[in-house]
Amino acid sequence: VTKSGVGLIGCGSISRAHMSDYYTLDPEDARLVACAEPDSATRERFVAAFTPPKMYASVAELLADPEVEVVDICTPPATHPELIRQAARAGKHVLTEKPLAVDLADARDAIEVAERAGVTVAVMQNYRFRPEYIEARAQLTGGRLGRPFFVSFEGLYHWNGGANYRRQAERMLIIEQTYHYIDLLRFILDDDVERVYAVAGRPETSVTAGETWAALTLHFSRGAVGTIVNSGECYGFPANWGGSAVVQCTAGTLEINRRQLYSLSIYAAGGGGRLPERVFPSELYAPSTNAPFTRPLEAYHRAFRTGQKPPVTARENLNTLATAFSCYESIERGQVVDVPPDRVPVAR
Ligand SMILES: NC(=O)c1ccc[n+]([C@@H]2O[C@H](COP(=O)([O-])OP(=O)(O)OC[C@H]3O[C@@H](n4cnc5c(N)ncnc54)[C@H](O)[C@@H]3O)[C@@H](O)[C@H]2O)c1
Repeated sequence: VTKSGVGLIGCGSISRAHMSDYYTLDPEDARLVACAEPDSATRERFVAAFTPPKMYASVAELLADPEVEVVDICTPPATHPELIRQAARAGKHVLTEKPLAVDLADARDAIEVAERAGVTVAVMQNYRFRPEYIEARAQLTGGRLGRPFFVSFEGLYHWNGGANYRRQAERMLIIEQTYHYIDLLRFILDDDVERVYAVAGRPETSVTAGETWAALTLHFSRGAVGTIVNSGECYGFPANWGGSAVVQCTAGTLEINRRQLYSLSIYAAGGGGRLPERVFPSELYAPSTNAPFTRPLEAYHRAFRTGQKPPVTARENLNTLATAFSCYESIERGQVVDVPPDRVPVAR
């Protein structure tokens, strides 16, 4: 079955990045057929910029379009589960932007509705497609560096979330941005988070209502401990989104350095130190952007079209979501919190 007709829902800021990439994809993998946006001013701006084949003012119209076989949800997080349910009932596969939801029970319910309807739901985790993280995962799961036991990840930059729903959101950085890094650590370690401790806050000068810095301690199921330090309040540090990661393993260290984009260094214990650094071609990603969606969109849509498992299913993403929520619970209670155990292993 060909599943290539794509309907994009929500024409705000991130949809623009998806759109540019839809026009470069092989139409066999994904053929954009329609978009839907309820806000008339946003709709007009979007039509002027992208002239999509069809533009609807309501999601219902888009879901009633038989040419739409897969929907790409680019709306604010709280709307994702209900849109997943509506799409599933209309028999459409779903790719939703992260985060999957802002409520765990709502996320689980949407997944169950979709499973009963026989459609696939996937979550856009575009950072997994950065070449240095793909290579990090290959190195760490390949066994040459031994067992990873301690990971430190740092993402420091100046980013205030932008001037949309994020400005008023009570919960901001962890669910919006640290979410990517939780998912990246799960991806490179091939492991899930079992227990967390977190602190977070915002300086009085912050323009957002929710937290803008956070420090997370994550206990993974196979014994590794990870820390994520993330802040959008760091003046002078440009946002290059990938951050710096150091993974300490029993037989070596792996490093991703934010100052040298798309590169990976390995220091093997036996080899007397530094192995040749691997630097990946930067044409895969324009520097300092989080909008490199060509490869991710291609991979997700190819999976929908061929009936394969997409790169990140919603069920697999539940551990990332539950970890983020457990961090908020830890912050509120000042305690260590167990992550609810509906875990599905990271895609192998
Ligand atoms: N993967 C990434 O790197 C990345 C980057 C930025 C944002 N995002 C995610 O993308 C999503 C959207 O973020 P954004 O910054 O584009 O937000 P935005 O507010 O700029 O755009 C959202 C659009 O959705 C529309 N909308 C709202 N409710 C709707 C509904 N029920 N049905 C249809 N349309 C609706 C709004 O009118 C708006 O135009 C969020 O989940 C965000 O976390 C992901």
